[in-house]
Amino acid sequence: MKFAFVVLFSAVLAFAYGQANLPAAQPCDEALCKLPHCRCSSTNIPGALSASNVPQFVLLTFDDGVNIGNMVLYRQLLKNRFNSNNCPAAATFFVTHEYTDYTMINELYNDGHEIALHSISHRNSMEYWRDASVSTMMSEIGDQRSQIAHFANIPVNTIHGVRLPFLQMSGNSSFQMKAGAGLTYDSSWPTIAFQDPGLWPYTLDYRSVQDCIIPPCPTASIPGPWVLPMVAWTDLSGFPCSMVDNCYDHPHGSDDAAWYNFILKNFERHYLGNRSPFGIYVHEWFVRVNPGLWKALQRFAGVINNMNDVYMVNAKEVIDWVQNPVPNNVYRQRPCKNLLRTQCLPNICGPLPAPEGEKNYYMQVCSRCPSRYPWVGNPLGL
Ligand SMILES: *[C@@H]1O[C@H](CO)[C@@H](O)[C@H](O)[C@H]1NC(C)=O
Ligand SMILES: [Zn+2]
Repeated sequence: MKFAFVVLFSAVLAFAYGQANLPAAQPCDEALCKLPHCRCSSTNIPGALSASNVPQFVLLTFDDGVNIGNMVLYRQLLKNRFNSNNCPAAATFFVTHEYTDYTMINELYNDGHEIALHSISHRNSMEYWRDASVSTMMSEIGDQRSQIAHFANIPVNTIHGVRLPFLQMSGNSSFQMKAGAGLTYDSSWPTIAFQDPGLWPYTLDYRSVQDCIIPPCPTASIPGPWVLPMVAWTDLSGFPCSMVDNCYDHPHGSDDAAWYNFILKNFERHYLGNRSPFGIYVHEWFVRVNPGLWKALQRFAGVINNMNDVYMVNAKEVIDWVQNPVPNNVYRQRPCKNLLRTQCLPNICGPLPAPEGEKNYYMQVCSRCPSRYPWVGNPLGL
């Protein structure tokens, strides 16, 4: 009985994210691909709403380690910020394990922000990520979910999203991993072909029409996870940029009026267009070294927080809306999302022996201290 279960379970795993040949995705059939679990890749507004009835979502995301070096800016920008429906405004953090203070992850979570995955190692090699198998994806990202939940003491089922390091996809494998691990969405896939009007989130049941900027992109049919496309901005010379820090021709660092206009121009392409989610995808260091951008972000946030059809929300909330699209007047009346608050009793751990080399590490966690420095293959540091 037990043996049979193990065999069956392994077969299911092998099917779910093994190397077995996946079915190639076929052209999307709108009649078969229906919400809430399937959506064809397109710029059509979900639910066939007209643009003026669509809540405009603004997605502010930050990548990489969270620590005292960048918490100052996060707190300054985000604390006590509310949307016009009186629900707290929120951002999404794609976190890496290294240089992360897990007590601060706990704080961000308790302030209503979304904690998402950006790999344990963030290894500095495009080839590593491009060639990553499903099992590498599982040990880098699938395992990071339980790692963050454990060390930051936050519920594992509040972690839904992934952004791959360097936005380097590996074809089907990261999506197979997401399907197998029950993760909801990916936000690693830039588009410049579907910028105006912007591409709305969609699933991979059927073939994607999205342009593949950093190949390989997935081409198999992989039901389950959503693609939250990174719709590019346009820089001052008209060139596309998928993250704000990639905008080559951007305003001068300290010119906050120019930065504000720059943000507004890019925002208006969405707000006056098909209202596809407007992403402000940025690294904290870039905001810090461009004080004009820092000021402009505060000003922009203040403006949209007073607009009755614009909302700064988490990426997961955007997917939730796409799955169940309702007009703005209905959306506004909804109660704010429920937050299950958790506590952090901080522990400073170390020196912890590292898996490779003689370097010792220190960590701040909300759990008991691990006995070794946690890493790929040993995410809890047992
Ligand atoms: C993804 O799966 C499809 C369908 O099986 C296959 O044709 C394609 O080569 C795969 N992509 C990669 C990068 O392995
Ligand atoms: Zn990164």
